[in-house]
Amino acid sequence: IGARLTGGPLAGRHVIVTSGPTHEPIDPVRYIANRSSGAQGTAIARALVRLGADVTFVTGPATVAPPEGVTVKRVETALQMQDAVLAAMPAQAAVFAAAVADWRVATAGAQKMKKTVDGLPALDLVENPDILAAVSAPGPQRPRLVVGFAAETQDVTRLATEKRLRKGCDWIVANDVSDGTGIMGGTENAVTLITADGAEDWPRMGKDAVADRLAQRLAEALA
Ligand code: CTP
Ligand code: CA
Repeated sequence: IGARLTGGPLAGRHVIVTSGPTHEPIDPVRYIANRSSGAQGTAIARALVRLGADVTFVTGPATVAPPEGVTVKRVETALQMQDAVLAAMPAQAAVFAAAVADWRVATAGAQKMKKTVDGLPALDLVENPDILAAVSAPGPQRPRLVVGFAAETQDVTRLATEKRLRKGCDWIVANDVSDGTGIMGGTENAVTLITADGAEDWPRMGKDAVADRLAQRLAEALA
């Protein structure tokens, strides 16, 4: 229930937020997906709205409801998420909190696959487009601030620092998910913010507090 802060620090700023998992169909009844409740992305969108931002919230099939006060674009797949993000441009900032499936099945079956005595089915996978990298690429439409997430199970700061450079984004919010923190269902998150200036370990806090702090930082960066 976030009231918009009229005249807030992000008033008049358009921010795109992706959230939730994507579902990549295998057949009409099966899909490939990442574990994601959408809680962190939803909290970030809510925090941005509170600071006055005009938020386009591109969400996969999340378990938590979208926040109030955003423009919601519901998608299922990574390809649909990419289309929705590009259609929402331009924006002053973009935050990529979605857990996008890295692969999709090349040709999803039109009919439900059946078990056979002949053996196991083979899934022909192709890589999904990297939406964060595409939006981070230099160009006239590039948002001033692009923020990615990185869920890692080891070497969090090193891997996330490399990921920031590889993706071309400005910031990475890195998440140690080795003990289940930060993923599906959890309410707390221990993150490290990676910027061009280095790595900042934030204390473990609620996802809402992470969101508030990130939104505040984003507002300062765009000021
Ligand atoms: N992301 C994206 N599009 C994709 C994959 C990831 O926009 N097809 C974004 C995520 O929303 C996140 C960031 O990229 O903000 C990092 O995602 P992550 O899965 O950690 O990175 P990958 O490059 O897919 O590397 P990995 O092999 O570690 O999964
Ligand atoms: Ca990935």
